[in-house]
Amino acid sequence: MVDFHTHIIPAIDDGSHNVDESAEMLRMSYAQGIDTIVLTSHFRLGEHRIRSYLKDRREKLDILFDSISPEERKFMPKLILGAEVEFQPDMDKWDYLDELTINGTNFIMTEMPFTPWTGADLKVIDNIALNTPFTPIIPHIDRYMHTFTKESYIEHFYKMPVVVQMNAIYINSRAHIPYYKPLLDSGKIQILGSDCHGPEWRPPNLGTAIETVKEVCGQAVMDRIEARSREILKDAIYEDF
Ligand SMILES: [Fe+2]
Repeated sequence: MVDFHTHIIPAIDDGSHNVDESAEMLRMSYAQGIDTIVLTSHFRLGEHRIRSYLKDRREKLDILFDSISPEERKFMPKLILGAEVEFQPDMDKWDYLDELTINGTNFIMTEMPFTPWTGADLKVIDNIALNTPFTPIIPHIDRYMHTFTKESYIEHFYKMPVVVQMNAIYINSRAHIPYYKPLLDSGKIQILGSDCHGPEWRPPNLGTAIETVKEVCGQAVMDRIEARSREILKDAIYEDF
């Protein structure tokens, strides 16, 4: 199974603080049946510029790799570089979107604002989806549900050629079954992620969610999520790890 949303690269964002935490998160994920992880460290324009972000991401990942023995690596998921790109009103015009995609693919994770969305915000994402080579992934849609975010705006993304991702923590709450079951059954939610930030705080928890999806929605729904995940990653470049 694939975890599309993680903050495992050490000391680059509010995720893992150091290589020990990162290694533990990788071991925990593998033990839950996760064989592939997309590394989606935050890219926030207020905090980073593209060159320094890419350099920092590469260096921190290399430091992590150097700290893990070949024997340990056998019991860790395969890794793919990506980014969680904070929404900006002009992001559809950036000339470096290709450097923030899931490596080797045309999929880019665009994190929507945690303030009320506007029609103009939606148009930015629509423009990327319709007028660039890139396909937005809308992460953690669950974090906008039951909030001030307009339901019609969330529904909009289910109709667009984008990929909508749900976090494991939402699926792991039984109270949410009536809300997520129809979304998973109908394929509106295409992929899953843990959005893990550390071994203890917001830990890797996708394994439990996968079991819950099988129980609540059935194996066929989980099989479809798995197939879509592999399709998205068919051209992905795996880190030499
Ligand atoms: Fe995240």
